[in-house]
Amino acid sequence: MMLKKDAHLLVIGGARGLGFELARTASEQGARVTVTGRDADAAAARAAELGPSARGLACDLADAASLDRLFAGIDTVDHLVLTAIERDRNSAADFHADAAARMMLIKTVGYANAVAHALPRLSPDGSVVLFSGLSMWRPAPGSTTLSMANSAILGLVNSLAVEIAPVRVNAITPGTVAGTAAIDNAAPVLAEFFETQRRRTPGKRLPTPDDIVAAVLFLLTCPSVTGENLVVDAGYRLV
Ligand SMILES: NC(=O)c1ccc[n+]([C@@H]2O[C@H](COP(=O)([O-])OP(=O)(O)OC[C@H]3O[C@@H](n4cnc5c(N)ncnc54)[C@H](OP(=O)(O)O)[C@@H]3O)[C@@H](O)[C@H]2O)c1
Repeated sequence: MMLKKDAHLLVIGGARGLGFELARTASEQGARVTVTGRDADAAAARAAELGPSARGLACDLADAASLDRLFAGIDTVDHLVLTAIERDRNSAADFHADAAARMMLIKTVGYANAVAHALPRLSPDGSVVLFSGLSMWRPAPGSTTLSMANSAILGLVNSLAVEIAPVRVNAITPGTVAGTAAIDNAAPVLAEFFETQRRRTPGKRLPTPDDIVAAVLFLLTCPSVTGENLVVDAGYRLV
């Protein structure tokens, strides 16, 4: 699936990880790309890897003023993707309310606030994709808050798909993605959990970043898909 040449894709959280891989492909397709991270210089350095039509800007979803500053420097947005996350590690037996509240602020309220800021700049035939995650249905050790946040994203997508139409709004729900920070920085108990997950998956694989990028591009470009949640997990949710 191809983005239109010169379409503007804004990826909040795109300075690293899956968002950056999406930005790389979009840039190769001829789109104008803006990626954000929490640090302006680091985001600009990542954008420079993508070529002259890419920009890197600062954005902290925990800080509403930061969103004001980000959108003050942005004209139109054709496609908005939210990948940002600050992972916590929480469980009912050892619950850290401050960390949970921060995660929820970023990956629920922050996502909604970013869409609200983008709205005056979103083109009517534009589209939005919000990242959820399979932990909402298949929790992992320490995923209590993440499971909550991922679930809330689906409610937000349902609401936005009606509220801001004709702009299309969809969610993507990846399973654990091979070669990302979630796996590479996993504690031993989590790494074991992910390996078990891979073996049990019908496809005997974890999705790759390329799989996720292809799925997001489909959601961004297919004109008849809105209010959808696309699960990309090699079938793990079924077993
Ligand atoms: N990776 C997986 O296996 C997996 C599986 C299921 C779902 N997902 C979902 O996919 C999305 C992307 O995951 P990922 O692994 O690619 O993440 P990642 O590599 O950890 O990247 C996270 C990005 O979010 C940014 N960020 C962190 N805190 C922020 C804040 N307060 N405000 C704004 N941006 C902030 C980071 O900025 P800096 O560059 O400044 O650090 C970074 O660019 C997440 O929403 C995650 O829940 C991932």
